[in-house]
Amino acid sequence: MKRILITGGAGFIGSHVVRLFVKEYPEYEIFNLDLLTYAGNLENLRDVELEDNYTFLKADINNAEEIETLFEKYKFDNVIHLAAESHVDRSINDPLIFVKTNIIGTLNLLNAARKYWDNFTNKVFYHISTDEVYGTLGDDGLFTENTPYDPNSPYSASKAGSDHFVRAYGETYGLPYIISNCSNNYGPNQFPEKLIPLFINNILNKKELPVYGDGKYTRDWLFVKDHAAAIDLAFHQGRIKETYNIGGFNEWQNIDLIHILCKLMDIKLGRNEGDSAKLITYVKDRPGHDKRYAIDADKINNELGWKPSVTFEEGLEKTINWYLSNHKWLQNVTSGVYQGYYSKQYN
Ligand code: NAD
Ligand code: TYD
Repeated sequence: MKRILITGGAGFIGSHVVRLFVKEYPEYEIFNLDLLTYAGNLENLRDVELEDNYTFLKADINNAEEIETLFEKYKFDNVIHLAAESHVDRSINDPLIFVKTNIIGTLNLLNAARKYWDNFTNKVFYHISTDEVYGTLGDDGLFTENTPYDPNSPYSASKAGSDHFVRAYGETYGLPYIISNCSNNYGPNQFPEKLIPLFINNILNKKELPVYGDGKYTRDWLFVKDHAAAIDLAFHQGRIKETYNIGGFNEWQNIDLIHILCKLMDIKLGRNEGDSAKLITYVKDRPGHDKRYAIDADKINNELGWKPSVTFEEGLEKTINWYLSNHKWLQNVTSGVYQGYYSKQYN
């Protein structure tokens, strides 16, 4: 029986990974370690929390002692590490917590794994990262696994730092690792601060839709369940000490995506065509805003046979339907400190 520690499992992507592993692998014991910050929510996992092979551990990856105690007690065989501060705008306001959680937190997990794994047979430290570590693309080209790191935001710099430490622990101590760098995810359970869920929530509440700069920034969007499936594959079949890029083959300029979203929301909400688009408001640009991200996912496709299973149209439809039928979830996650983050920063 494998004992798998998944960190950040109460967050957006983590909850989809935990659900997939709990349901697909009853022979594994899944431990979800999460601090439940503003972005972590156990409501995301109500459907699996009573499963025999699932245990929740409320803990802080920034607390080295706590992490070591848990490794000693539960003897995890493998780690899938997703816990992080994940939002670029927040990193611009408060870089330090990004350094603490994303770099020191990762280091604490690496140290615990090193200390408690007597040998490295059948062990793997799987680190989940982002394509943002590669910096920005111009109009052409794609990020490959060989693209040099060139991060531009405090968020991406902290993720780059954590990736480097994981790799360095592999080289220096022989710690078996896998890293994957994924493009922008969207789907159910995403906290409404990132573009798609923020705009869905704002349209619902007839609030303005803040488009940064000229809106001509490009992202490569991937449905979250396809990311979880890629993680499952890379975890089981990926080669140790390898990096895999994961992307949607699905580039959109923000403003085009926003218009599609507005149109779909008008239909779903029975509003007049054009009502949601009237909420579009151009605001001051995000500082250091990366122009374009796009992933070459050929390596994971060729080696492991992964490709996205959901088209963007299907994924967006599923996502909107989920938010429309989960009002309570939206209310719960937006009722706390969160007040629409952008407005404090850029207007
Ligand atoms: P998220 O913000 O939704 O969730 C992060 C989770 O980490 C939350 O549950 C939070 O409570 C937990 N956490 C934060 N600090 C912690 C701490 N000190 N100790 C323990 N738990 C803590 O993030 P997400 O969007 O699900 O991203 C998950 C991972 O995937 C991150 O590492 C992120 O960098 C990476 N990633 C995200 C995207 C994306 O589009 N969202 C794309 C590529 C990679
Ligand atoms: P975001 O969802 O924050 O992801 P990331 O910055 O990690 O790519 O933003 C996606 C794109 O949308 C990015 O180009 C910034 C832009 N954006 C807006 O124009 N307005 C917003 O309110 C937000 C949150 C993002």
